[in-house]
Amino acid sequence: MSAINACMHLFKPGDHIIAGHDIYGGTYRLFVSPFTDFGLKFTFVNMQDVENVRKAITPQTKCVWIETPSNPLLNLVDMQAIADVARGAGAITIADNTFMSPYFQRPFQQGVDIVLHSTTKYLNGHSDVVGGAIITRHQPHAERIGYIVNALGLACSPFDAWLVLRGVKTLGPRMEVHQRNALAVATALRQHPAVEKVYYPGLTDHPHHALAKRQMTGFGGMLSFDVKGGGAQAEKVMLAAKLYSMAESLGGVESLIEHPETMSHASMTAEARRGAGITDKTLRVSVGIEHQEDLIADLLGALDQASK
Ligand SMILES: Cc1ncc(COP(=O)(O)O)c(C=O)c1O
Repeated sequence: MSAINACMHLFKPGDHIIAGHDIYGGTYRLFVSPFTDFGLKFTFVNMQDVENVRKAITPQTKCVWIETPSNPLLNLVDMQAIADVARGAGAITIADNTFMSPYFQRPFQQGVDIVLHSTTKYLNGHSDVVGGAIITRHQPHAERIGYIVNALGLACSPFDAWLVLRGVKTLGPRMEVHQRNALAVATALRQHPAVEKVYYPGLTDHPHHALAKRQMTGFGGMLSFDVKGGGAQAEKVMLAAKLYSMAESLGGVESLIEHPETMSHASMTAEARRGAGITDKTLRVSVGIEHQEDLIADLLGALDQASK
């Protein structure tokens, strides 16, 4: 969040920023308040159709904020198309690349100007750091962001930086296992009668599978699924799963499960959540690197138990 905070200080009161309507709830909260209170103007649109970005542009638009795949529904947006529209309007693009990590997605290749990561997640990978990283290909941005980070006191401690550097050494092998396990869990989940829908871009019938293949070099370790019967059933499944700790974070070696409606996206208004397609029957899973068969057996067992 401090990295996002630093990026927002590139802008001035009156500047307009377009963001996806299905971004991480904490980012949405930061934009709505305090940054709206400070005079920045935000428009949240469904960026899956780039026309919605084009239509939202005003003479004051300075930035388009991209998060792909989105949290928690794993929708993808076409970064190249959005970067082209933004550039044409004189605005920059910033992509939150936390979900894929640089191992699976490099937004600079699609023309994005600034890439941001929560290093709390995959880059560190061991759930023992809270931090962020901002990477830009423009020297003036780098200088300004360096100044802002120092002036606002947003830098992380040397020990936390060291922990992230340790984690990065195993990023590649970890991401490969996260992905392998996520595809196996997604495939198993969709065959369970208590599951209504599975959201994972690696599934060939995911609505953005073709874009995922073009834009990313893998599909990552995050997935979500809808439980038949609604919120109460979803909560039962979450609590019955033993190998998946109930927690909001993601990207660590251990598997986590959470309920976006009441946890990661609780800070969005109910109306904003519905607009983004988030409902109380959705559970989000950060698939870890544990043994694949254990992960599948535990989650399917939790679904069986909740259905009794
Ligand atoms: C996509 C995304 N960006 C940013 C953040 C914020 O990360 P942090 O908890 O490190 O501040 C999160 C946290 O869940 C996230 O999912």
